[in-house]
Amino acid sequence: MVRFALDTATPPCHSFSVIPSVVMKVSPETKVRELYDKSADRYAEMMDSEIDLPVYSDTLGRLAERIADVSGTVVDTSCGSGHMLTRYHEHHDPKRLLLGIDLSPRMVACARSRLASSATIRMGDMRDLGSVESGSSAAILSFFAIHHIDSREIVAALREWRRVLGSGGQIVLAAWEGTGPIDYGGESDVVALRYRKEEVTTWAREANFVVDRCVVDPVEGMPMKAVYLEGTKE
Ligand SMILES: C[S@@+](CC[C@H](N)C(=O)[O-])C[C@H]1O[C@@H](n2cnc3c(N)ncnc32)[C@H](O)[C@@H]1O
Repeated sequence: MVRFALDTATPPCHSFSVIPSVVMKVSPETKVRELYDKSADRYAEMMDSEIDLPVYSDTLGRLAERIADVSGTVVDTSCGSGHMLTRYHEHHDPKRLLLGIDLSPRMVACARSRLASSATIRMGDMRDLGSVESGSSAAILSFFAIHHIDSREIVAALREWRRVLGSGGQIVLAAWEGTGPIDYGGESDVVALRYRKEEVTTWAREANFVVDRCVVDPVEGMPMKAVYLEGTKE
């Protein structure tokens, strides 16, 4: 699994490593945007096969069941190349309205071309969903993007995501698990942070989500694990 590989200019994702834990600040969004604009096409190519991994069908299948009786949009707050929304639309919930948001114009272009009329894709920031109406959404997806924001911003983002969800709305979040910054293997000096399962769970609860599931799974070929959280706005 691998959504991270994409971050590197030259895969393989194995070039990722974890450098010693020190107090570091995440890179500003200008640098993050630049990183993904540069790597978007390669990322999309990688996701063409990654999206077939069981973790995606399992996660998205569970989500479709959980929101079967919840009306509203599914919002991917860092949709990248749009593979998750595409998968959700094609395999799990074809009638659902979909909205993808991403910081990187190149990622937005990839997602638009992949999803065409099946979803609305907008440039934006996961920390501020702006024009998305309160209570209008059935689910929020956030896969492998919170490593670009700090803990205070994560709690604020979770509160913002909760704002746009209706009652019974779901959050599905994946993040690099652990402590300390991610080393992009010399391909980028962007600073991005791993977070522990306990932190992610605590932040979701601070934002008033009920945490229904939170697991840590190894990531094949990587020196890092991922944390997957599913929660409900009651
Ligand atoms: C590793 S990619 C993951 C993409 C997608 N979620 C997936 O799993 O395939 C991280 C994505 O987060 C986006 N991103 C980073 N910071 C963001 C922000 N503040 N708001 C919205 N998107 C952001 C990047 O542009 C990039 O597309």
